[in-house]
Amino acid sequence: MPIGSLWWTLRQLPGQNKPEVSSVEIHRVGVVGAGQMGSGIAQVMAQAGLTVLLHDLKPELLERGLASIQRSLLRLAEKGKLSEAPEAIVSRIHLSLDLNELSACELVVEAIVEEEEAKMALFRRLGELLPPEALLASNTSSIPITRLAQASGRPERCVGMHFMNPVPLMELVEVIRGVRTSDETARTVVELARRLGKTPVEVQDYPGFVSNRILMPMINEAIECLREGVATPEAIDTVMRLGMNHPMGPLALADLIGLDTCLAIMEVLHRGLGDKYRPSPLLRKMVEAGRLGRKSGEGFYRYGA
Ligand code: CAA
Repeated sequence: MPIGSLWWTLRQLPGQNKPEVSSVEIHRVGVVGAGQMGSGIAQVMAQAGLTVLLHDLKPELLERGLASIQRSLLRLAEKGKLSEAPEAIVSRIHLSLDLNELSACELVVEAIVEEEEAKMALFRRLGELLPPEALLASNTSSIPITRLAQASGRPERCVGMHFMNPVPLMELVEVIRGVRTSDETARTVVELARRLGKTPVEVQDYPGFVSNRILMPMINEAIECLREGVATPEAIDTVMRLGMNHPMGPLALADLIGLDTCLAIMEVLHRGLGDKYRPSPLLRKMVEAGRLGRKSGEGFYRYGA
């Protein structure tokens, strides 16, 4: 049966087609996780005039996230790409070590480590502490939204909001509907993405969604080319940059995304879609060796401090 019809069937099952939820206006957004994706999401939300509460577990993580937001805003200001001063935007971002403070938000976007157990636990907790009308979005790059939504206890108010790295520059937001995501919830985050100046694209909840189902096998194949000695990292990346007009080569892009994240996504594709998506042994080795790309200072390339 084609996937489209399987999806349609799931949404029509008795009890799956729940009543529509009431609409909610988004003014305050909580962002959980101040890493490169979370801080980028907090930044674009604040740029759009929203009040943001950025949460992480340690003060140094919040400080590092805020510093990267400030650097990014300064770069954008230098190019005249901001409609107000960076300080005015930063003043809308509040840092928080206490997850309970997010209960004042109409929407919380989760952007923590790409591990299913950690995300499930967070969705469970957020489902308990947020007011019933609040929406919950995950920036996961591959973990099923339907599963996270069930953990939250409010599946109709959960959705995937998948931003691309670097968030302030990339135009796409992949909006992922879980099986029980309501039309109203999807509509609200589609509108929000437009308010952020992004282009939302709605997709269904299948392994890797669309973006990573297509991108990651390409990156994985580039790693296999390297492992088999077909060419050097520079040569592989140059072929894809100059031959296919990609803005950066697949190995440089893997370093930007983080090799641990690439491996986690490949594992999800492998489990969900079969052997064709088996992660490269070299990718696995690099992660085991702590060579995670830019964030660890070394991946397929070396990076300065
Ligand atoms: N904030 C503000 N400005 C930034 C920035 C940031 N975070 N990052 C880069 N810039 C600026 C740079 O300062 C630079 O400015 P100048 O032109 O004035 O020098 C400009 O953007 C271009 O940067 P670079 O010269 O360093 O390099 P570049 O021309 O290659 O552009 C890039 C960088 C936009 C990242 C581009 O290489 C690109 O589009 N790469 C592909 C990125 C991509 O594919 N992202 C998706 C990854 S997949 C994902 O995120 C989802 C997932 O689930 C894994």
